[in-house]
Amino acid sequence: MNNTDNTNEFETKKQLDIINELKERYDVEYKKSGTRKTYHIETFGCQMNSRDSEKISGILKQIGYDETDTEDADFVLYNTCTVRENANNRVYGRLGYVGRLKKMRPGMLVAICGCMMQETTAVEKIKGSYPFVDIIFGTHNIFKIAELIKTRLDNEVNSGKHSDKMVIDLWKDTDMIVESLPNDRKYPFKAGVNIIFGCNNFCSYCIVPYVRGRERSRNLEDIIDEIKLLANDGVKEIMLLGQNVNSYGKNLEPKIGFARLLQEAEKVDGIERIRFMTSHPKDLSQELIDVMGSSKKICKHLHLPLQSGSTRLLSIMNRKYTKEDYLDLVTRIKKAIPDISLTTDIIVAFPGETEEDFMDTIDVVKKVGFDSAFTFLYSKRTGTPAATMDDQIEESVAKERFDRLLKEVQVSSAKAAGRDEHTVQDVLVEEVNSQNEDLLTGRLSNNMLVHFPGDKSLIGTIIPVYLKESKGFYYIGNQVE
Ligand code: 5AD
Ligand code: SF4
Repeated sequence: MNNTDNTNEFETKKQLDIINELKERYDVEYKKSGTRKTYHIETFGCQMNSRDSEKISGILKQIGYDETDTEDADFVLYNTCTVRENANNRVYGRLGYVGRLKKMRPGMLVAICGCMMQETTAVEKIKGSYPFVDIIFGTHNIFKIAELIKTRLDNEVNSGKHSDKMVIDLWKDTDMIVESLPNDRKYPFKAGVNIIFGCNNFCSYCIVPYVRGRERSRNLEDIIDEIKLLANDGVKEIMLLGQNVNSYGKNLEPKIGFARLLQEAEKVDGIERIRFMTSHPKDLSQELIDVMGSSKKICKHLHLPLQSGSTRLLSIMNRKYTKEDYLDLVTRIKKAIPDISLTTDIIVAFPGETEEDFMDTIDVVKKVGFDSAFTFLYSKRTGTPAATMDDQIEESVAKERFDRLLKEVQVSSAKAAGRDEHTVQDVLVEEVNSQNEDLLTGRLSNNMLVHFPGDKSLIGTIIPVYLKESKGFYYIGNQVE
């Protein structure tokens, strides 16, 4: 059917060979020492990063590492985010800590990867201030983790100074997709599935297109095969992942739309819930709305980043929709899917934001009635067009607007919260409640949490629950017999 040439089978084979070679090496060491090696991954940022960490984890387990909860491990990896400045600062804090640990733990390997490593200044800072780091790689070559470890171990034998042993492998961009490597997942009953990598949108504040590269869609067959394997393995809920899922298939030949992919995913027996993240409002088609409206499996939740309610600012942000377009889209969504839950991302204090612009954002929040919203203070990212725009907003004004927005979002969430009170809803039971072990915690189709008494054998099943009382961000419920 459809075909892209960027799925690289040669690379898959090469990496599998290296994984096996390392496994044999580690088996020999294990037989000698009697202790297995451990690894720990700290993941920062979005669901794409979490999914990348699961893939790396799958390869590490295959080599012979066991996972551990703390950084007191033989292999420690930081998978970084750089979408806002404070994400970078957190990573430097962790590196300081692990540097001290490493002094007490000879043979320990420290690696760092992800979006922040796609920025030259961050890599230079690490080389200068944290020279004990062993491996640096980026977002485009995570499939090479075994090869990078092997190179670092070989350098140990062949090089003198630590700085010569450090392995740095950074790619500016790639069109390669490497399938069929070992894989891991955090939960047995729900799983993320990448469908498209990268972003072509270049919103003027955003660093993602520079660090995640151009859009590349996976082949439809590869995605559906993965979903079938997951279903066979007991997975009930999948989350289709991409920076902009609505761009899915644009680079495939022949072109396929995201709505079509959803329809194919729905056909997979055993999968009961389908979620996806994130949708760009400019690309969300009426076809997709209709498919969602008539589907039994697609969850009644849309994350639809607004960023700003001001048409003037949206244009400078390069978002390619107006305030009216957004409101019209929401009206059409609510008409087709009356019980939809809408969530969003909003940036406060983008350069040049006036009080009038800000009030447009407040107006949209009031009109839409979001179930929840992630609100961010604008953060200047070097290399993006917005970083050099005049009129960066003063901190005190930014903070004051941020607090006002937060209050408005809370009013909106409170209104939305009780909507399903006194109804029976299907709930995917996810875990024992962390505060009270007599309670279980699960999620409704619209992503809302519910706590209810029940036995932990129910974890991973979908059951009807009566929503007795709304507590704002969650419900208290009772299992329906
Ligand atoms: N400053 C603040 N927030 C940002 N986001 C992306 N770039 C920036 C930035 N420079 C927010 C957007 C996006 C979310 C993932 O992060 O709202 O939707
Ligand atoms: Fe960033 Fe815009 Fe792409 Fe989202 S769509 S990742 S905000 S550039």
